[in-house]
Amino acid sequence: MLLITNIKKIVGILQEDKPRLCGEEMNTLNVIDNGYILIDDGLIKEFGQMEDCHKDIENQIDATDKMVFPAFCDSHSHIVYAGSRESEFLDKINGLTYEEIAKRGGGILNSVKLLHQTSEEELYNQALSRLKQVIGFGTGALEIKSGYGLNIEDEIKILRVIRQLKQTTDVAIKATFLGAHAVPPEYKGKQDEYVNLVCQKMIPEIAEENLADFIDVFCDKGFFTVEQTAKILQVGQKYGLRGKIHANELDFSGGVQVGVKYNALSVDHLENSGENEIAALKNSQTMPTGLPGCSFFLNLSFAPLKDMINSGLSVALATDYNPGTTPSGNMKMALSLACIKMRLTPAQAINAATINGAYAMGLSQTHGSITIGKVANLFITKNIPSIEYIPYAYTENIIDRVILKGKEFIN
Ligand code: NIG
Ligand code: FE
Repeated sequence: MLLITNIKKIVGILQEDKPRLCGEEMNTLNVIDNGYILIDDGLIKEFGQMEDCHKDIENQIDATDKMVFPAFCDSHSHIVYAGSRESEFLDKINGLTYEEIAKRGGGILNSVKLLHQTSEEELYNQALSRLKQVIGFGTGALEIKSGYGLNIEDEIKILRVIRQLKQTTDVAIKATFLGAHAVPPEYKGKQDEYVNLVCQKMIPEIAEENLADFIDVFCDKGFFTVEQTAKILQVGQKYGLRGKIHANELDFSGGVQVGVKYNALSVDHLENSGENEIAALKNSQTMPTGLPGCSFFLNLSFAPLKDMINSGLSVALATDYNPGTTPSGNMKMALSLACIKMRLTPAQAINAATINGAYAMGLSQTHGSITIGKVANLFITKNIPSIEYIPYAYTENIIDRVILKGKEFIN
């Protein structure tokens, strides 16, 4: 048992029957002032006001002047990669676009080459150090994609590393198979053949070994078409893998519409979205997910999440942590960017980064809010003046401790 006492504010309290927050619901963050949280067996057992708190528990944390939040739920990352790609950073500074770098055979394919030469153990070590880094930023649930293999052996190598990561920490991890991330050089000009390989060989083998929870496709200009995406999502469905797709990053690609059509759990990026995409998302079970770090790093436009919320949709925020478009897994930075560049209010951004992020990886029954019975993945802040201070102080580390399954995370 662990008792956290004298909490200045417990933030992000929800009823258990709320899988996600839509439209106006996103404006509210339920709070208790001067509260306590009791954790038992890794779960939130009870919370309330200090006057109702039992004081007889041995293991206590005094959170005077501090706040407690549900840990961030980062529903989109690519943390299993080898090395880094700062040479492309220079190319971008010198004027090349992400698409131009990819066309020259760089970009994702550079990471593919390097990953091929890297042992599984080394890959695991690099990914684990990124995972620990993001836990330190307050993340308690994380989706991780494959997609730097592009052949069956290397895709499986990545998914095995993700499985190992699942067993290493108390962060909730979901694995997504992203075989259709780019066309590997040996299939250049034979894109449909590569899609067949993904559908006929990779998906069945990965499903057989139970290595993935979801399936992803980079449905965009210069990458995979709507038809190819539809095919992959259909085969995925047959094997119980729901879609979480990369859509509308580089163009109005039709990715949002095809994702909704096949009941994807989320459509992510959305830098190129407007009324048609919003109309497609209405009344769907698909979570539109913004990745503002990518827009910031690539100088792209920002996804119109505010318009989506104003249209009554739910939205999530994630980092997209990857070596090419977002070399950062800091969810607090994503919050700040969402507030500053997308005009989300701090409450909207925090809801998008917690409960709605949990929904976008199928975890909202167990994570993403302060709710009795949910897993006690939380962070305790330093002494901060207000909730709004978190996105406002955009580079300050406001995290004091991270609690995972009721235990303090020590790096
Ligand atoms: O989400 N856009 C596609 N995939 C990643 C980038 C991958 C890379 O460049 O390494 C993204 O931004
Ligand atoms: Fe991504």
